[in-house]
Amino acid sequence: MLHADLQAPSVFDLPGFAPELVQALTDAFEQGEGSTFQNSRAGIVEQTRFLLAALRAAAPRRVLETGTHKAHFCYLVRLACPDARIDTFGLDPESQRCVDLLNARLGPPLVTFHPGDSKATLAAFEAREPEETIDFAWVDGGHDLATCSRDLEHCARLRVPHVCVDDVRGEPQVARALQAFLATHREYEQVAFSRDQRGIAHLRRRAAGEGAT
Ligand SMILES: C[S@@+](CC[C@H](N)C(=O)[O-])C[C@H]1O[C@@H](n2cnc3c(N)ncnc32)[C@H](O)[C@@H]1O
Repeated sequence: MLHADLQAPSVFDLPGFAPELVQALTDAFEQGEGSTFQNSRAGIVEQTRFLLAALRAAAPRRVLETGTHKAHFCYLVRLACPDARIDTFGLDPESQRCVDLLNARLGPPLVTFHPGDSKATLAAFEAREPEETIDFAWVDGGHDLATCSRDLEHCARLRVPHVCVDDVRGEPQVARALQAFLATHREYEQVAFSRDQRGIAHLRRRAAGEGAT
């Protein structure tokens, strides 16, 4: 299983990274924790190294996220893939403030926030134009079995070629959802797993004609 290269850049190496913007996003509303930058420094380094490597592999034009929270992941994508469009699905209505802040600071392509339970909002989502497929998904919303399983099912429905799932090590229900998903969806394989306490699994959708082993 591949891990992130220990010499690879983390978010702290990215030109333009603004800690004060992270602070403003974090302070935009009170509740909750567990976002990309609400972690130990070592955790942030490992997770963002891993995510930046996965994003590089995907070279996304469109990104989907479940679990918007404070739009930290959206900020990482805006830094690493400045031309990518992001659709983010989250339960906290206050996340709109963070998305508005990010859009005001960084401009287009604007991040689109879809408020509500992803079990309903993502079910209603289509990538619209056939060529406008989602290239990368970050599954980091509800960590219960039903929500995580549904989020993964929608990634498969949208034929997302690269899917990263957070908290596989930290949340047993997420690990169960992932295991069941990989057993059912043989078109996906796990290609990497991060070392940090949360644990990100990177799944890749096999290309047509590429057999499952
Ligand atoms: C760990 S935080 C997400 C962190 C963020 N993805 C990041 O990388 O910075 C999880 C978020 O998922 C949201 N959430 C929980 N259940 C959800 C659901 N059913 N639909 C959408 N969002 C949900 C929570 O409200 C919380 O804001």
